[in-house]
Amino acid sequence: MIIVTGATGQLGRAVVEGLLTRLPADRIAASVRDPAKATELAERGVQVRAGDFAEPNRLAAALAGATQVLVVSVDKLGETALQLHHAAIEAAHAAGVRRVLYTSHMGARRDSPFAPAPDHAATEAFLAEGGVPFTSLRHGFYAESALHLIGHGLQIGEIRAPEDGPVSWTTRADLAEADAIVLAEDGRLDGITPPLTAPEAFTMADLAAIASELTGREIKRVTVSDDEWRSARVAQGAPAPMVDMLLGMYRAARRGDFAAIDPTLEALLGRRPHTMRDILAVNLKPAEA
Ligand SMILES: NC(=O)c1ccc[n+]([C@@H]2O[C@H](COP(=O)([O-])OP(=O)(O)OC[C@H]3O[C@@H](n4cnc5c(N)ncnc54)[C@H](OP(=O)(O)O)[C@@H]3O)[C@@H](O)[C@H]2O)c1
Repeated sequence: MIIVTGATGQLGRAVVEGLLTRLPADRIAASVRDPAKATELAERGVQVRAGDFAEPNRLAAALAGATQVLVVSVDKLGETALQLHHAAIEAAHAAGVRRVLYTSHMGARRDSPFAPAPDHAATEAFLAEGGVPFTSLRHGFYAESALHLIGHGLQIGEIRAPEDGPVSWTTRADLAEADAIVLAEDGRLDGITPPLTAPEAFTMADLAAIASELTGREIKRVTVSDDEWRSARVAQGAPAPMVDMLLGMYRAARRGDFAAIDPTLEALLGRRPHTMRDILAVNLKPAEA
């Protein structure tokens, strides 16, 4: 039995869909915080079990009978994230799994200024110490995050952001499909994977140029200081912890932490992964004449 956690989230749900195209539904289970949100999966034959990493005593029932568990990283940071990840991994070990899989990040580094990155690195260390085979899927940076970062700039024709660096933006859908393939073909990737990325990396200036070309409107890239950008975002009402996390992202990007391009994702998918250029082409239309 393959068990996917976070299956009511965007990535986990897409992984279950990917598994359903490869395996019979009775080999797939979803561990979710709220089973009422997964009734459609249950109707299609996926076992839906209640499992919250914050309630470790109840995780044994959620993960019983698992051969592999995909632990989808939580949407929390710091000690909270680590405790939740540790609880999920320990419960998977206690269930006797052959392999634990975990959704890490290409930027996972202990010393990263991007807040989730040290959490991923620490979770990977915990997996390595556990003595059970594991696969830490180092996902590329979600392309959907880039759209969120530059969406307003695309509308107003000016992307104002701190100094950045190239990022191999990768779609969540491609990553979910790859995760499903790795789960279905147990053992295909072992340990910490290479970065699972699209085949092209782009800076904000590149994205502005591509968007200008696609829309026929000039979209400028304006670099502002970290302090100016932070103050402006907070003044606009963005929560300070969120602004600091994004600023950390720019700082890590300019060190090159998200610049890698690697063929592993393409090899897994058996096709070229979508790039940020493809995503912009789908989302942007030429300006009306
Ligand atoms: N590679 C990247 O660039 C990138 C970008 C953003 C995020 N991420 C990471 O990738 C993860 C998955 O992405 P996503 O887009 O699917 O995010 P998402 O839609 O927010 O899903 C997060 C999932 O984590 C589950 N979760 C949170 N706390 C939990 C707990 N205590 N016990 C069990 N499950 C818990 C949520 O459960 P509910 O459905 O019950 O809320 C949800 O299903 C994120 O959580 C984050 O760690 C990666």
